[in-house]
Amino acid sequence: MTDGSRISGFYRLSIDERRALACERAGVELADLTSALAGGGLDPERADKLVENVIGTYSLPFGIALNVRVNGKDRLAPMAIEEPSVIAAASNAARMARASGGFFAEMVDTLMTGQVQLVEVNDPARAMTRLTDEAERLLAVASAAVPNLVARGGGPREIEVRDLGSGCLVVHVYVDCKDAMGANLVNTIAEAVGPVAAELAGGVLGLRILSNLTDRRRVRVRCRVHSRDLGLSGRGTERASDPPPATKPPSDGSTLGWVDGKIVAERIALASRFAEMDPYRAVTHNKGIMNGVDAVVIASGNDFRAIEAGAHAYAARSGHYAPLSHWRADAEDLVGELEMPLAVGTVGGTLRVHPVAQMALKLMQIERACDLAMLAASVGLASNLAALRALATEGIQRGHMSLHARSVAVAAGAQGDEVERVATRICDDGIITLAAAERVLAALRR
Ligand code: MEV
Repeated sequence: MTDGSRISGFYRLSIDERRALACERAGVELADLTSALAGGGLDPERADKLVENVIGTYSLPFGIALNVRVNGKDRLAPMAIEEPSVIAAASNAARMARASGGFFAEMVDTLMTGQVQLVEVNDPARAMTRLTDEAERLLAVASAAVPNLVARGGGPREIEVRDLGSGCLVVHVYVDCKDAMGANLVNTIAEAVGPVAAELAGGVLGLRILSNLTDRRRVRVRCRVHSRDLGLSGRGTERASDPPPATKPPSDGSTLGWVDGKIVAERIALASRFAEMDPYRAVTHNKGIMNGVDAVVIASGNDFRAIEAGAHAYAARSGHYAPLSHWRADAEDLVGELEMPLAVGTVGGTLRVHPVAQMALKLMQIERACDLAMLAASVGLASNLAALRALATEGIQRGHMSLHARSVAVAAGAQGDEVERVATRICDDGIITLAAAERVLAALRR
């Protein structure tokens, strides 16, 4: 895909039309997409094999963020999320970044962390020396526990020993899990290494489990947005497929809602500084990032609880909870960077059984875990940009309310293009209630 993620007016199409277009862009058979999504994607029989005490399944909206380009390659970004505005906002921000080349992403490191806890170690200093000296032996034990991973070119890479005090040592085993998220692989390794480590340390074996603070498996993504693409046109809530905002106030003299791009860039940089200074704001700033990251992670069948736990621990690594992304105004541009732990897989786990997760990877045209991490982080940075731009200018309620108005219009019985007409009218009137929507719909049909 070169221009494949740029689809003008996608939101105006019917669900069937969107499906057909997404399949065409991603080279997926429409019949395969339709069957993957049938009945919400996961039937109760399959769900019953996944977890316990199943009585049904629970669906989420499954949409596609558009305009995303990562390292010069266009990708559709499937998102599973219940919150209105997030997909449209991410698409809109991705379009702004795209005008300057899109997102530039890299994996900073690709190792998972396994932990072996050793307690009642009488001579921690001596134990640390022994464990460090015997690192090769520990790595050999670890490799023997995961022969298939080693055959695929992955496996244990490094040993680190940490002294937590009070006779407690922790052995970290760093593992390259290739395209797996790797929780099972790392836990298998930790359990294999544990008894040998305990014997070497002269201590008692404690926990053997991966750490979800995967700070040795991080992704970094940057984007640069020209101020001409950031300005607010004053036309009201924008869509991802709208033409870029005007750089000058409208000639008809109406300047309501119009904000110059350079001012928007400065306000976003200020919003970023606010998050750097205040953990209360940093948490919400990071929530805006996780709106995008989690939605892609869930769509791809990955463990979002693990990602969330790791992200927030990483955000607090200095002892002060901080934003995961930073924005700065740079001459005519706004420059953003996000760095966070992101351990996701494209093989194994839920992916084996969930038809929509498998389909999501096909729509993304992704096979490698690092590409999935880079895409999820790019959508996270896009979501963050969209939120900050809205907050720094007109506020988020206007966009939220117009989407809310559409669901109220649907609830009132509007169909087809009636939905947009009723929603626009109740928004303009500022009375977004079911009764108002019913009244407008009745008038429209008269
Ligand atoms: C809402 O889901 C996310 C925001 O609160 C993020 C932010 O405040 O940056 C809008």
